[in-house]
Amino acid sequence: MCGIIGYVGAQDAVPIIVDGLKKLEYRGYDSAGIAVYANDGFSVAKQEGRLNALETRLEEQPLFGHLGIGHTRWATHGEPSDVNSHPHIGSQNKIAIVHNGIIENYKQLKEYLERRGVSFASQTDSEVIAQLAEYYHRGNILDTVIKVTGRLEGSFALGIMCLDEPETLIAVKKDNPLIVGVSEHGNFIASDVPAILKHTNKVYYLNDKEITILRKDGVRFFDFDKEELQKTPETITWSFDSAEKGGYPHFMLKEIMEQPKIMRDTINNTSASVREAMNELDITQFNKIVITACGSAYNAGFVAKYVFERLCRFPVEVELASEFRYKDPIVDERTLVILVSQSGETADTIAAMREAKARGAHTLSIVNVVGSAIAKESDICFYTAAGPEIAVATTKAFSAQLVVLYILAIEFALRLGKLTADDSDKLTAEIALLPDKVETLLSQVDTIQKYAASCVGYKSIFFIGRNIDYAIAMEGSLKLKEISYIHSEAYAGGELKHGTISLIEEETLVVAIANCERLYPKIISNVEQVISRGAKVLLLSNFENAEQNDHQSHILLPPTVDLFSPSLSVIVLQLFSYYVAANKGADIDKPRNLAKSVTVE
Ligand code: F6R
Repeated sequence: MCGIIGYVGAQDAVPIIVDGLKKLEYRGYDSAGIAVYANDGFSVAKQEGRLNALETRLEEQPLFGHLGIGHTRWATHGEPSDVNSHPHIGSQNKIAIVHNGIIENYKQLKEYLERRGVSFASQTDSEVIAQLAEYYHRGNILDTVIKVTGRLEGSFALGIMCLDEPETLIAVKKDNPLIVGVSEHGNFIASDVPAILKHTNKVYYLNDKEITILRKDGVRFFDFDKEELQKTPETITWSFDSAEKGGYPHFMLKEIMEQPKIMRDTINNTSASVREAMNELDITQFNKIVITACGSAYNAGFVAKYVFERLCRFPVEVELASEFRYKDPIVDERTLVILVSQSGETADTIAAMREAKARGAHTLSIVNVVGSAIAKESDICFYTAAGPEIAVATTKAFSAQLVVLYILAIEFALRLGKLTADDSDKLTAEIALLPDKVETLLSQVDTIQKYAASCVGYKSIFFIGRNIDYAIAMEGSLKLKEISYIHSEAYAGGELKHGTISLIEEETLVVAIANCERLYPKIISNVEQVISRGAKVLLLSNFENAEQNDHQSHILLPPTVDLFSPSLSVIVLQLFSYYVAANKGADIDKPRNLAKSVTVE
């Protein structure tokens, strides 16, 4: 996710902004830029790559000014490049902006402006804001901003400078974070507290649809109807370290908590792009789908197998990418190979993609990191809108992958004539409800935390489920073992009696997932089998009447169609793993022996 900082005050804005950008590095970025007002115009430095590249440039060509905006960009529209970096300035060189968020109607706005003679320099959605602002500007920047925001659809946190008001910094917030800091020497805007904590701990939190006007000696707030608002500043008591994590002790917990938002963003981004891409792709040419990936991304693919097969009545194979590449795979031009990867740089998944392409298969990827190898080389790429994921154990990217896969499966089923438009609409509406249900689950964090605290002593924890609950049990088990170092396995409930049940004894916890109505009695009988052999059971289920007793605890999940229930089960599984690991004092964000992006074989 992009990072924004802006300053107006008595000091030189450039070092303040560069330092603030460094404090926002944790958000992830692929390019950075700064613009200051000086000598009746804007001076700009924008640079693809790390912040030290921007710093080197600033050493060679220094900038000075008392008003400025800076940005770290996490590419969403347009490759990471100097020209796509922010700040963006309109073609009249009059208004400069930095933007965090996504402008959903940027194509329409761009066409509207192009028809009126405006020419664009970048491929970004953000540039449209600067161009539109110049197009509407009649001398009063507040009026201009109100007019522009009225035409923008999507999410935006904006920092804006206008040549007509060279002592004013203006900012807006809608669905993306933005704070205002006030200090003795000047005032700030920032995406997050750490960017300005060195200068002040007095912070105003902007609400959605609020505008702020900052000058050296004061700050004012307005709503979109130009009504002035009275706001009270808050005093930040966090340390630098915890502030970077938004007050959470670990990035993993922060990322778990971000899931409702990133699921909403991913749903909004993906629905139209899937439809568009499917217009170009004749899916009746395929006779099978192969999903290939590693680790959690493989587990997302495993969940998707159940969804695709149920909705599309179409054969789907799921292969570990590290196996696929060496197994002489049976794929050809009639195969659609789906690659799932957060980083887009996992060596095994890249190799699997190249193997599939060499055999003539069509490749479709679901990737989080814009411009990554898999995103670039696959025939079609859908991006998850999870933003940068910092904790090694994936959480929010996994949830985003699931929703893209659901949307894709529905679109396939519709086009294959296996789903009526009516049923497709119902399922789509159900997906749209998932973020709210995830929010409900996240509000039960205390219950899960308490339960997890009592589980630290287990030597082995098993995860069982049937059908799609089995697929998500795999992810629960992986999450637990990688961060808590407790031995864990996932099994299909029906498999227990074929071997695993011999491992069940007093010191064993079994997490049973039960959301498939028709299989509920079956998994409950597996639960009874393990309880009678001394195990304790944690049951995750959306069946309200599930039993609770000395041997069995129940966490009630919100109801949804069983095909989408993994998106809810996984939230409890992530929180459970997180709190077990936290109670063991584990290095949660960087578990031993693991790397975030596995770029070697
Ligand atoms: C587990 C985890 C890993 C990744 C795997 C694939 O929490 O994060 O198992 O899922 O290494 O990585 P990507 O998705 O980057 O290809």
